[in-house]
Amino acid sequence: MTTQVISNGRTSRECRSRMTIGVGEKCSVTTARHFLGSREQKSQAFTYSSTAIVLHWVIAALILVNVVLGFGANYVPDEYVRQFVDLHKSVGITVLGLAILRILWRLMHKPPLLPTSYSPFEQLAAHSVHWMLYVLIFAIPVSGWLHDSAWKEAATHPVFLYGIIPWPRISWIQNIEPTTKERLHTILFNIHVYLNYALYLLLALHIVGALKHQFWDGEAELQRMIPPRRR
Ligand code: HEM
Repeated sequence: MTTQVISNGRTSRECRSRMTIGVGEKCSVTTARHFLGSREQKSQAFTYSSTAIVLHWVIAALILVNVVLGFGANYVPDEYVRQFVDLHKSVGITVLGLAILRILWRLMHKPPLLPTSYSPFEQLAAHSVHWMLYVLIFAIPVSGWLHDSAWKEAATHPVFLYGIIPWPRISWIQNIEPTTKERLHTILFNIHVYLNYALYLLLALHIVGALKHQFWDGEAELQRMIPPRRR
């Protein structure tokens, strides 16, 4: 069946309704044979898969929880500090596992197209921020794990994820001579903290960009990352 699409992949019906058409987006109709024929195909072209959506929101929620736990450990009474830090490590290692899955998923799947109404600068900025976020969701837990492995009391405080699953320290760090290890412990903590600062900055850009596209440009930006039933 012949389907009419405009140059940026919108169907002619969308052009007519203008519900999903961005400001400044042209509706010059061309004809294509098999492109975006069904509702399902159209949805696949512009939205993330369920796997990507679940990983995105679970990782985002766990990172938020872990920032609260990481900072919270500085402010809670002494008797709760260990519980906070231990839970922080468990959640952080969970994020590491999910981040690896997310990055593998991303390497094996093409993300949905960005609307062509986005300027080349916006497209480049969006892709750059996404890749830097992938790096950070991996590097932050790894830096925490390295920092924790350099802790002088690591041997007497083994890690059990959620109090149940034994989790190893990185042995070559544990075996470093104590004075150097203590210095490394401090350096790795600073790296952990500064990577978190970078995360806050990139998250702010990511969120401001998404909100700008949604509410200023009138694009269905947030719908790309929510489950189909809720769209
Ligand atoms: C989602 C991943 C993670 C995030 C977002 C995160 C974030 C943070 C933040 C915001 C702090 C507080 C920094 C400060 O006090 O200025 C912190 C501290 C810390 N993090 Fe992480 N972290 C993550 C993963 C991990 C992992 C996987 C480990 C270890 C296995 C870890 C070990 C630590 C330790 C030991 C501290 C110091 C806590 C204290 O003694 O007060 N982190 N982290």
